[in-house]
Amino acid sequence: MAAEPTPGPTLTPDPAVLATVELALLGIEPDTVAVDVPPVLGRRLKPGAELTLTDAEGAPVASLTVESAATRKRRTTVTGPVRRAHADADGGEPRGPYPQLRVPPRRLRLSDAAAVVVRDPIDLPTLAAATAKPSQPVLLVVLDGPRTVPGPDTADVTSGALTVRDKLRREGRQTEVVVVPAPQYGDARDDELADRIAAAYGGTRVVPAEPPDRVALHCWLDGTAAEPAGWPTASLHAWRRWRPLPHERGLVLFFTGLSGSGKSTVARAVAERVAEIGTRTVTLLDGDVVRRNLSAGLGFSKEDRDRNIERIGFVAAEIAKHGGVAVCAPIAPFAATRATVRRMAEAHGDFLLVYVAAPLEECERRDRKGLYAKARAGEIAEFTGISSPYEPPEDADLVLDTSAMTVTAARDAVITLLDEGGRL
Ligand code: ADX
Repeated sequence: MAAEPTPGPTLTPDPAVLATVELALLGIEPDTVAVDVPPVLGRRLKPGAELTLTDAEGAPVASLTVESAATRKRRTTVTGPVRRAHADADGGEPRGPYPQLRVPPRRLRLSDAAAVVVRDPIDLPTLAAATAKPSQPVLLVVLDGPRTVPGPDTADVTSGALTVRDKLRREGRQTEVVVVPAPQYGDARDDELADRIAAAYGGTRVVPAEPPDRVALHCWLDGTAAEPAGWPTASLHAWRRWRPLPHERGLVLFFTGLSGSGKSTVARAVAERVAEIGTRTVTLLDGDVVRRNLSAGLGFSKEDRDRNIERIGFVAAEIAKHGGVAVCAPIAPFAATRATVRRMAEAHGDFLLVYVAAPLEECERRDRKGLYAKARAGEIAEFTGISSPYEPPEDADLVLDTSAMTVTAARDAVITLLDEGGRL
């Protein structure tokens, strides 16, 4: 009987690196890839060692044979060729939406195609450039992978591209759509990679002299301007699915402030008022409540607080993705962690930050739960405002000093903010 293979080291690289690995597996990028690994793992990875790279779900994607490992500034980078993982649970099936369109260049090689390489819905000037020569085949490449600028999902962009493809085919034009994994850097490397992807399928990337007006697009998305010119209807649908009008768009309403500042009370009052108005679905994620379920077992070290806030952000972003309102009310003392939640939320909807700015003396004077007294007595360690920092936000959409206003007034100020933004 064959012995069970000993499981070797595995690593889940960040999504951009994983996209590069997948490009290598497709034969678009060179098969030698560099991957950063934690130093502990780096020490085990001598030349010749095999490192299994997995996706976020832990499924093996590729095997990297280590050729060299270099450590600089406590970061180890291993480099070597990758090949499809032996134990790939899906038998090498491509992952992601529209697997049937994830065709490697060795199975789709066009001759002198005009290639549109996009991560966003296709615009008309680009399409016009691609169809300028009557007999030239058109290749529509949808890039899939982590985005640096939020925008529609790959599935929505692809479905728009398929509508465009069908229209061009009805006009007698040879047109193909492929979906290709690719990282996005937000700099010149993106264009260079797009050129290489186009070339791999036998195409030349087309770039219009003048792309459509993005400002006009965003004004339309926000409901302040008429439908913009420059986009096929299928593309406008994709943009709109990503960014519904404010009253249908997901929203993360994030309260931050010291313990005892009144943020839970105001947040609850806001959530109840939104539910009464009845135009939106609303979920309250209160700090103390979250800590009893979603974050049960976490403490108050910086790491645990970050983990707590990121969990709240994850759930809130999912709620926003489905068009709901997530009202969150943790202390969230660190600006960087709040910024992370903002990013997570803005990938799918809006993020509004409300700073409940009651002075520490006032919170301590109220001391409803008796926690400040205990913190002063040294019975609770790392207590926010006493023995652990609170970084006041500089990016709040609304500041409420609850020591100088009633709960109802604070609630109404938030409701007015929502109403004025057309969000109710
Ligand atoms: S956060 O820092 O991670 O955002 P969170 O809002 O979840 O905090 O929890 C804060 C609540 O936990 C407070 O309202 C208080 O009731 C309780 N608590 C217990 N220990 C601490 C502590 N060391 N610092 C702050 N709050 C604490």
